[in-house]
Amino acid sequence: MLKTTLIEAAQAGAAEILRYFHGEFRIDNKEGVNNLVTEADHASEKAILSVIRSAYPDHQILAEESGAHEQSHAYKWIIDPIDGTVNFAHRIPLNAVSIAIEKNGEVIMGVVYNPHINELFFAEKGEGAFLNDKPIRVSTETRAIKACLVTGFPYTYIDQPNGPLDVFARFVKKGVPVRRLGSAAIDLCWVAAGRFDGFFEHKLEPWDSAAGMLMVQEAGGTVTNHQGETFSIYEHPLLASNGHIHEELVGVINNTRTL
Ligand code: IPD
Ligand code: CA
Ligand code: CA
Repeated sequence: MLKTTLIEAAQAGAAEILRYFHGEFRIDNKEGVNNLVTEADHASEKAILSVIRSAYPDHQILAEESGAHEQSHAYKWIIDPIDGTVNFAHRIPLNAVSIAIEKNGEVIMGVVYNPHINELFFAEKGEGAFLNDKPIRVSTETRAIKACLVTGFPYTYIDQPNGPLDVFARFVKKGVPVRRLGSAAIDLCWVAAGRFDGFFEHKLEPWDSAAGMLMVQEAGGTVTNHQGETFSIYEHPLLASNGHIHEELVGVINNTRTL
């Protein structure tokens, strides 16, 4: 069963996260001075891949650290072995395994598991979103000015009109709380659970967004690009919200409306 394998894979990755988190690990740099990868990222990915490959050897894989294993198959597993690696490297317990399954280009199932606080988020297309098996819903806030938001910044700053700092400043200058947790997958799940009313980021990759996107949608929320159009996990800018404040957030992000 897909779901069983998905959860087992997340648990296998999470076991590696916990093992290294409480011990020693090597840290290397990817592109950019603070774009890190640790021994634990590789170990988690290896454990996840081994679970998936033994159940579904012919499925496609897109994994952050080892790349794409393309084969002609309807199913594709999209894997972030540790989302929140900088947090992990600094022993901040806000990081998670994130795995999504696409079928013919549509995300149909996802899991995000933060083992440090034992929160396992699961969503299935058309079947809802769950935190540790209990159904979750987005918040009911209807005014962006009253919202509690979360965002993230890329490792290399994007200097563009309405870039990450411009948008961040627009909200903060109006007194809107905008948190920055350091894990996009967790940010999205916390929108799904109603803890945050909205999340935006300018430069996400499919492994950051796929599982969390489904989580928000299945919890009754909305996910689009920054223009308010249909979001594809293969494009970078993402906006997620409880739906009620979505249009307002699109306006503020594009600087076409003020709070
Ligand atoms: C990062 C985190 C972070 C986000 C970055 C991502 P990583 O993923 O999700 O919150 O701001 O854009 O790259 O590198 O920790 O897997
Ligand atoms: Ca990530
Ligand atoms: Ca990662």
